Amino acid sequence: MQKVLITGGSEGIGYAFAEYYSSIGSEVFLVARNRMKLIDIKNTLENKYHNAVNMICMDLSLQNSASTLYEQVKDENIDILINNAGCGYTERFWKIDIEKEEKMVMLNDMTLMSLTKLFFRDMKKRHDGVILNVSSTGAFQPGPYIAGYYASKTFVASYTRAVYEEAKEYGVRIYCLLPGPVATDFYRKSGVKAPMHAMKSDKVVAYTIKHMKKKCFIIPGVMNRIVRFLPESIRIYFIKKTKWKNIQKKRG
Ligand SMILES: NC(=O)c1ccc[n+]([C@@H]2O[C@H](COP(=O)([O-])OP(=O)(O)OC[C@H]3O[C@@H](n4cnc5c(N)ncnc54)[C@H](OP(=O)(O)O)[C@@H]3O)[C@@H](O)[C@H]2O)c1
Repeated sequence: MQKVLITGGSEGIGYAFAEYYSSIGSEVFLVARNRMKLIDIKNTLENKYHNAVNMICMDLSLQNSASTLYEQVKDENIDILINNAGCGYTERFWKIDIEKEEKMVMLNDMTLMSLTKLFFRDMKKRHDGVILNVSSTGAFQPGPYIAGYYASKTFVASYTRAVYEEAKEYGVRIYCLLPGPVATDFYRKSGVKAPMHAMKSDKVVAYTIKHMKKKCFIIPGVMNRIVRFLPESIRIYFIKKTKWKNIQKKRG
């Protein structure tokens, strides 16, 4: 039975991956902080699909959390690792709490990088395995009023594209998922509302599964694939305008 480890598997895009893999008979391992939510998801998925759902309650924004997680599951021979857990903040950069943003970088980048390395070593020995790192279309340009988050996602895209090249000769496939807006609770948590055109998580997952083949970058949504070819100055102008509006709305 295929074993799939999903960070941030209790909600949003991560949950949609958990549901997909459970539905095709995989055993899933879900990592998140909120135990009650994990228990809820475990019960829902096990009752619906009758495949084992394992919960790992852990804060991945803490230093060394990647090694702690790896030690807990290393004997399971994970076939697919989905580095999905992430967070971001929309605000003027100097107003975002330093500790919060440092934890964001730890979660979005440092933990993801270490997990990629730790699990790759085992996959390399087996000459088999898949790692999917979740970035964002925000990776393609700087984001005024969401500067730290976009920069953290640029890191994910650059790192993943590089290690994809190194890994392929060892039979391990490493992909980078770059979604545009997705209708999840992510927006509320980052202090704004999801845009009307946000994609559904299950659509993002279906597109990803279909495209985890040849290319490293997977970008769901036609508009998201087109927009990245506009001049950078235009993209930055629109992001600045939209995010500033978000901040104004937040203030009420
Ligand atoms: N939604 C979008 O529009 C969008 C667009 C592009 C990219 N993305 C990326 O897609 C990924 C998933 O986003 P989403 O929209 O599905 O977010 P979400 O609905 O907010 O879900 C985030 C998941 O990550 C977990 N998580 C958050 N902080 C964690 C921590 N410190 N340690 C362990 N788990 C943690 C959450 O559970 P707990 O809170 O219980 O820990 C939850 O399961 C993120 O990397 C995000 O940057 C999202």
